[in-house]
Amino acid sequence: MVNPDMAVAVRTSSLTKNFGEVRAIDNLSLDIEEGQVYGLLGPNGSGKSTLMKMMVGLIRPDAGEISIFGVRPYEKPIEVRRIIGYVPETPRLYDFLTAREYLEFVSDLYGLPEVDKRTRIAHFLEAFELSGREDEMLSGYSQGMRQKVAIIGALLHRPRLLIMDEPLNGLDPRSAKIVKDLLNRLSGEGVTTIFSTHILEIAQAICKRIAILYGGSLVSEGTVEDLKGKAGMQGSSLEEVFLMLTGGADVRSVVEELSR
Ligand SMILES: Nc1ncnc2c1ncn2[C@@H]1O[C@H](COP(=O)(O)OP(=O)(O)O)[C@@H](O)[C@H]1O
Ligand SMILES: [Mg+2]
Repeated sequence: MVNPDMAVAVRTSSLTKNFGEVRAIDNLSLDIEEGQVYGLLGPNGSGKSTLMKMMVGLIRPDAGEISIFGVRPYEKPIEVRRIIGYVPETPRLYDFLTAREYLEFVSDLYGLPEVDKRTRIAHFLEAFELSGREDEMLSGYSQGMRQKVAIIGALLHRPRLLIMDEPLNGLDPRSAKIVKDLLNRLSGEGVTTIFSTHILEIAQAICKRIAILYGGSLVSEGTVEDLKGKAGMQGSSLEEVFLMLTGGADVRSVVEELSR
């Protein structure tokens, strides 16, 4: 239910996107309120990344509408990207740069003032426990360290909306907790985060509300408690989707740290 006093950060109505015969997003209507940490939860192939790419303006819908604070991203990509921070599923960084050079490059793209640039980069390197490593080439960074640099790069220009596609991939439990705490702090400042995952326990630990996608359709939407209650109804489509959302042993330690 949308609170009339809240601004809508993202609105989709009857949104549809096909890749050939595959319907990646199917007639999706969804409102995401400003200031939330909002989860897109669904098994692999359910359309999460496609939806996020449409939010950022990288993919044009085939039918229906999508708007970011009232603006269509595919019509005004520059305007929208100024207010969005995007962490793609597989971030592409420049191997031949150091972390500091990469982050300075990103700051320059957004036109951050010199002083602001230096203090913000130093602040986030410290927060993500990368201080002391910033002058090493990214080619030597681990997957988790690269993921942290990609997240920092998405935060430097103070986005109003953060779109993070499976951002905890490759992060150790401690780093995952740093991301969680950061998102909560940003939410307190009014920043909206949209966060995708195929792991129920991660959505539960990080997000206030979630939308469950399957086959490109919205299966259900609400707080995790609402949805778990509904999934208890045997034979419901939600029950089936929950059964497909598997974490596995490799994420258990991350989930434990997030739940502290
Ligand atoms: N560029 C593409 N070309 C063809 N098919 C695609 C492309 N991108 C996504 N798809 C298909 O669309 C569906 C949704 O994919 P995706 O949005 O990546 O799902 P998720 O992020 O939930 O795993 C899948 O069937 C996938 O194979
Ligand atoms: Mg994906």
